[in-house]
Amino acid sequence: MNRFIGKTVLVTGAGSGLGRATALAFAAEGASVVVAGRTRASLDETVRLIETAGGTAAAVVADVTDSEQVRHLVQESVARFGGLHIAVNNAGILRGSGPVADVCEEDWDAVLRTNVTGVWLAMKHEIAHMRGNGGGVIVNIASNLGAHLRIPDAAAYITSKAAVSALTRATALDHIHEGIRVNAVSPGASDAPMSLRPGETEAERAERVKSQNPLGRLAGAEEVAAAVLYLASPEAGSVVGTDLVVDSGSSA
Ligand SMILES: NC(=O)c1ccc[n+]([C@@H]2O[C@H](COP(=O)([O-])OP(=O)(O)OC[C@H]3O[C@@H](n4cnc5c(N)ncnc54)[C@H](OP(=O)(O)O)[C@@H]3O)[C@@H](O)[C@H]2O)c1
Repeated sequence: MNRFIGKTVLVTGAGSGLGRATALAFAAEGASVVVAGRTRASLDETVRLIETAGGTAAAVVADVTDSEQVRHLVQESVARFGGLHIAVNNAGILRGSGPVADVCEEDWDAVLRTNVTGVWLAMKHEIAHMRGNGGGVIVNIASNLGAHLRIPDAAAYITSKAAVSALTRATALDHIHEGIRVNAVSPGASDAPMSLRPGETEAERAERVKSQNPLGRLAGAEEVAAAVLYLASPEAGSVVGTDLVVDSGSSA
């Protein structure tokens, strides 16, 4: 399929995992992709993978917790490829494990700042461009942990991702009349770095997940990316403010 020919797509957190898989999937369908994150080398590797496959991409270093850097990121995306039609706000971190009373202030602040404020700042600057340029589409990456499912010892992350789900719906209501369609994808444990426990191998993770969800396996990164591409595509034209769960049945 070539659903995104002529479109400029911005993906944050695209130097690894789900962000990289999403950037590759958009490029494979004809989009020009701007990949963003804090680490130049991993972004350059994503660009290399896209170009090797015959696609078009550019890397822009930006920290989503810094408003000025995000404003510059949007400006650069428009300058590189002429416009910004689709944005995937995927950058996120997982910190602050343990029971609520034992979470330290630094971890709490970092998780909320990156996962919630980072998504808000990204949308703020993306919408500032889109609203004056014919509209656009935004897909935020939340999680099944949050609005859909809770587990022990992950309250900061769970709180942040519930907020991403709520922020997505609130933003959809605020901006659909300007032609900006906003939705979220909520992955469960996926074949991407964040689902690995400290020191765990991929084989050990696969074994652990077998008994942890009804499907008995991780969601593939390309399966999560496919959900993002659907929401960004014209086929989802009347899908507004939804939160598509891709979690192997964990929250069914
Ligand atoms: N993997 C899963 O099982 C799973 C499940 C549910 C939801 N999710 C969500 O999916 C998203 C991607 O997860 P993943 O597994 O692919 O994790 P990952 O490989 O750690 O990717 C996260 C990306 O975000 C970037 N990032 C972190 N902080 C940033 C900041 N302040 N500014 C800009 N970029 C930043 C990181 O790059 P730099 O460090 O270089 O900036 C990294 O490339 C996250 O939002 C995560 O919460 C993942």
